[in-house]
Order: sequence, then C-alpha cells, then structure tokens
Amino acid sequence: MLDASGKSFRERFMADPAGFSVAPGRVNLIGEHTDYNDGFVLPMNVERRTVTAFRPRGDGRVQVYSDHADATAEFAVGSVPEGLPGWARYVAHVAEVLTEDGLPVGGLDAAIAGDVPVGGGLSSSASLECSVAAALLASAPGAGGRSLDELLADAGKRRADLALLCQRAEHRVGALCGIMDQYVVLHGTEGHALLLDCRSLEARPVPIDDAMDLAVVIANSRVHHDLAVAEYNNRRKECEAAVRFFAERIEGVAALRDVEPWQWERMAAEMDPLLARRAGHVVNEIDRTLVAMVALERGDAVMAGRCMNASHESLRTGYEVSCRELDLLVDIARSVPGVYGSRMTGGGFGGCTVTLCRRSAVDALREELVGRYRAETGLTADVLVTRAAGRAELCWPDA
Ligand code: GLA
Repeated sequence: MLDASGKSFRERFMADPAGFSVAPGRVNLIGEHTDYNDGFVLPMNVERRTVTAFRPRGDGRVQVYSDHADATAEFAVGSVPEGLPGWARYVAHVAEVLTEDGLPVGGLDAAIAGDVPVGGGLSSSASLECSVAAALLASAPGAGGRSLDELLADAGKRRADLALLCQRAEHRVGALCGIMDQYVVLHGTEGHALLLDCRSLEARPVPIDDAMDLAVVIANSRVHHDLAVAEYNNRRKECEAAVRFFAERIEGVAALRDVEPWQWERMAAEMDPLLARRAGHVVNEIDRTLVAMVALERGDAVMAGRCMNASHESLRTGYEVSCRELDLLVDIARSVPGVYGSRMTGGGFGGCTVTLCRRSAVDALREELVGRYRAETGLTADVLVTRAAGRAELCWPDA
C-alpha cells in the first residue's frame, strides 16, 4: 500500500514523497450505536488501511490526489471551498479543524491510496481523516522525521484529542458520528480489540490473538443504502428524546448510558413505543458489550458469540438499522458449524457483518457466505479474515 500511494505521488508530483501516513480501517465486534450515548464499544482495527504519501509545501496550500476517485483537489489550509468532491471535503475539513484548534499544520502535496472499501462499513472515512490529520501535522515546519506521538506531545495534545478533532471534521461533512471510529483507528493495538468507555475515553485492550483459536471474519454485503446518513442522524435525535424522557423521571440521567436495563423495562410501557424500542436497544447493548468483553477475556467464545447474535436481533428489530442483505449474511454465517456469533457491524443500512468463529471453520464459512449470498442476491460478498491490526502512524523512509 505504501507502494500504491508512493507510485501515485511520483506520477503526480514528479518527486519522491517525504513521508507516509498510514491509518487502518476498523470493525466493531459489539457495542453498536452506543458511542454517542456515552456507552461502551468493542472495536478493533483491521488489516486494511489508508495511506497518504506526502511532501510538505511552504505556501500553506494542499494539493491532494485520490487514487480511489482518480481526481485531484486543491485548497488553502483552513479553507473549505465550495464544490470540492466528497472525499476532498474530508481532507479540507480535517485541515480546518486542526488549524482552528491551533495545531501546527503545514501545506502539502499528497497522494492518497488504500484498500479500506469506501462506504463499506469499515470506516473508510475515519481511516482517511486520521491518515490525513497525521500527514498535515507532519508537514508543519520542523516536523520532518518525527513520530505522530512526538508531534502531538510537542503540541501538548494526546491521540484522543486528535480523534475528537477528526470526529468534528466528520460532523462538518455531514454524519453526526460518535467517537468510536476515530478513537480506535488512533489507539488500537495489534492482537487486541479495545473496550472503549465513550464517556471517559478510557480504553482497555482485550486480547484477540493467535493463542485463542478464534477468527474474525468480515463479510461486505456490497450494498450501501442512501438513507444511511439521514437515518443515522435521526437515530441520534431519537436517543436525545429518550434521554429527556428518562431525565424527567430518574435523577442524574444525562445519557442513555445512565439508564439501567431494569429501569428501561419498568418504564418502557409509558414511553412512545418507537422511542422505547430505540432506548431498549442502547441500554441493553451497553450491557451486552461488557458481558462480551468479560467473556472474551475468559476465553468464552460461546458467550461472546451469543452476545453478538443478540446484538444483531436488537439492531434489526429495536433500532431498525439492518437490511435484508445484512440479515441474510448473518443467517448464512450462523448456519455454519464452528460459528459462535454473527451480526451487522457499523452504522447499518448496508456495509458489513462480523462473525466470530473457530479458525477451522473459516474456509467453510467463506464458501457459504459467498455462494449462498450470490445465489439469493446476485451480489458477490467480499470476505475478509483479519487479525486485529495496530494504530495510525507516520513513516519516514529516509529517517
Ligand atoms: C458509525 C459511526 C460510529 C458509530 C457506529 C454505530 O460507524 O461513525 O460513531 O456510531 O456508526 O455504532
């Protein structure tokens, strides 16, 4: 992947890049639509990444080429001109928020390449934002050869601050996302998922490694329904309305995180039925995420898988963010011996499913997922078996 972005860079700019900024995609094992409710999530990074090959420029301008779009965009750092294509708006808004926050960033020439499927539910957007953010920091005067952690420390910042800034950039592009994606892309460690408390932003690594005879299998449905962003933003509003209901009745409720499952059960009948369903998902999903984390730490894949299955049912019927294609992939996966659990992952309305299984089940699972999904939909699911990958970093070939 360094090769792809480096090659594009050389072709566009007739020079070698000074550095590369690499950021993975992510998959969420469990804890869906809980992050913006101050809850817990359990994501991990995947072995797919976005790479930005870059070279600082002294004039404060950004000239950036996207391999995926096969297009170039140009703007001054801090500005977001009208009419930028979608992918370039992420880049421009990242530069804008970093500047607003007073971080030292420089103009750059850049070529972006990657193999995180765009719009595929593995957070290609967070991967892009974090990759670009690191490249911008690395292009400030005097930043050459330094690591991302050194650059952040120089500016008195932590990776969590950078994650929050990238989240703000995403909000400006349009999706009112939570903090899960940007956080894990910047903090995940190899061989581990991350239990993230989205309220305190404290995280704890949870081993998912070779010692465990577990495989994480991602199936991309190859569908992406247009209503995804609008429905996502709607769900947030519904959660806010549910918080108002509980806050009037229970002391100290500031987010759905503060409502216990038993409190929800006791009060659900008094609520608007739609809000009750939405809140029911969130309140119980937060619980399930903690149960799944403990199960994984104990090596109890059966229990972790059960939690994943229950999460999917709740997302399908209570939160209503699944779709026919995701339900089908989940059903197919669950019918394969050696599978512990399967669910949709990410925002929903298309994108991917994630399945936890024995390693010996991977080949049969792949075959069933591809074959039966094709037979029923005519679509070819993309199946990715991945280890938990590391976090976003800078790389300086000549340093
Ligand atoms: C998207 C958002 C995340 C999170 C998930 C749902 O991926 O970017 O912040 O809310 O949906 O869990």
